[in-house]
Parts: sequence; C-alpha cells; structure tokens
Amino acid sequence: ARKIIIDTDPGQDDAVAILLALASPEDIDVLGITAVAGNVPLALTSKNARIVCELADKADVKIFAGCDRPLGRDLVTAEHVHGKTGLDGPNLPDPAMPLQEQHAVDFIIDTLRSHDAGSVTLCPLGPLTNIAMAFEKAPDIIEKVQEIVLMGGAYFEVGNITPAAEFNIYVDPQAANIVFRSGAPIVVMPLDVTHKALVTKPRNDAFRALGTKVGVAVAQMTDFFERFDKEKYGSEGAPLHDPCVTAYLINPDLFSGRHINVEIETHSELTMGMTVADWWGVTDRAPNALFIGDLDADGFFSLLTERLARL
Ligand code: BDR
Ligand code: CA
Repeated sequence: ARKIIIDTDPGQDDAVAILLALASPEDIDVLGITAVAGNVPLALTSKNARIVCELADKADVKIFAGCDRPLGRDLVTAEHVHGKTGLDGPNLPDPAMPLQEQHAVDFIIDTLRSHDAGSVTLCPLGPLTNIAMAFEKAPDIIEKVQEIVLMGGAYFEVGNITPAAEFNIYVDPQAANIVFRSGAPIVVMPLDVTHKALVTKPRNDAFRALGTKVGVAVAQMTDFFERFDKEKYGSEGAPLHDPCVTAYLINPDLFSGRHINVEIETHSELTMGMTVADWWGVTDRAPNALFIGDLDADGFFSLLTERLARL
C-alpha cells in the first residue's frame, strides 16, 4: 500500500476523500491527517477531520492541526459552499478522539525524514500552506516525496472563487507557488476533471442505499454540498473534487491527462491564484505537473460506492 499524508480542510468533499482512503487499506496506508485553514477556520477543519475518522470507526488515525492562515494573505473561507461548520448536512457527534500535540508541519517534516527517498505521497485537499511551510523549513524532505497528488486549479475551466482562480490555489497562491516549483513530482486534479465527478441522483441514492452510517452520512453531505453548485451553476449533482485524489491513488487508470508546465499567479489582484497551464506547449518551460483532464465517472463512482460499503 502507498504511504500517504492527507492534508485537508474538511469540507464535505474532503470528508468523502478521507473515507475512501480509510476504506482502502490494501491500496492506501494513511500515516496521518494534517488539517489546514481553508473552507472554514482551522479550529473547525481539525475538528471535522476527527469527526470523519470517528464516522469511519478509525479513531486511531493521527490527526494534527497545522497553519491557521495562508503564508502572506488573510484567510478566505467558503462557508457559502460548505455551511457554517464546513461539514453541514449530516448531524454527526462531536469527536472524542484527541488532536495530536505536534504541529502538522513538524509531523510532515519528521515523517518524511524518517522514510526512504521517494516513499511518501502527499495528498493536499485544501490550500497548500502546510506543505509549503514544511518545504521551506526543511527542503531536505522534498526528495522523500514519492508524489504530490493534489486537488487544485483550473485550466480550460474558469475559476470558482474568482473568475480566474480555483479556491485551494487562490487562498494561498504563495504556498502553491512554492509547491509547484519544488521539483517534486505533482499530479493535479483541477476543476476540469472534478466537475465531471458529479453526484447525480442515482449516485446519491446508491450511497444512501448502502444503509450504513457512512453511506447515509455521505448521501447527506453530498445533498448539502450540491445546493451551492445547483443554484450557482445549475449543476445536477455535487462535484466530488477531493475524492478524485484518493481515487487516483487506488486506480490511476480511471484518469487521463498531460504532463505540462504550470505557473501560479501571485501578483495581479485580478488573476491572483490562477494556474497558468501551458496545455498546448506554447512556452519552453519544462513540464512540472501531470494535469488531469478527464475521468471515467461511472468507474469512479462504482469504486467509491464499493469501498464506502466496507466502512
Ligand atoms: C476545492 O475547494 C474546496 O471548497 C473543496 O473542498 C475543494 O478542495 C474545490 O475548489
Ligand atoms: Ca478541500
């Protein structure tokens, strides 16, 4: 199984991504979960991560709180999408499991240092603050990274928090810039692909029909999460952005994309956080990321439903 650290700001779609990982021990070994400020402030994301692990009956997972604000900007949150708690929809109990005492950034550094080169995969599902901070503090850990598989950005698609930028990159563009320039191998799940992973009515029914605590909670989360996209974009079904990351680890053949160069806009207010992706190779900048553009949506949802049934 691939050893991973999930860096996250739950978030209903983050929650589903975490559940998929925890349901798949033969493919994914979760070394720890690090919370970052994003969809909601850190106090809530670090709480929600624990709520999700307890929902999966995995109270032994180590959860760390990380950075409570972006490297050089004020925090922008997304309660308008995720609700006041960040995890609106199901009514889940407050967590009993503790947060670890160590800071998430130090956990990332120590964990990578204690592993062989190229052996740990980082899975960022929120703003890249924790990862960038770890790379800045301890550049020696970059060679320990097997791959960074992250959700963020948009290329043919337009932005979802500003006309130009996707939320995770927009919240901390400086952090994203550090990560994209780090030299670590990167796989990106941008809006272009995540907007094809829609929880349609039959897919939502399939979660609920599992009849389990997890199945019902996921159906309620995706019901809530859909509201925003439905009102705003007329989209039928919640886009499951972050679960694309964990599904990719289990079955990369569900996805296709290209190795391209991507640079992050960190200066212009108008286009702040834009992922400037050289999809057509019009520059001589070397590729630094595998940008995913397409997925087998039915295959993705059967995998997800099958795995969630185990919890
Ligand atoms: C991303 O932003 C958050 O709202 C979601 O959890 C996802 O990670 C989509 O732009
Ligand atoms: Ca997220």
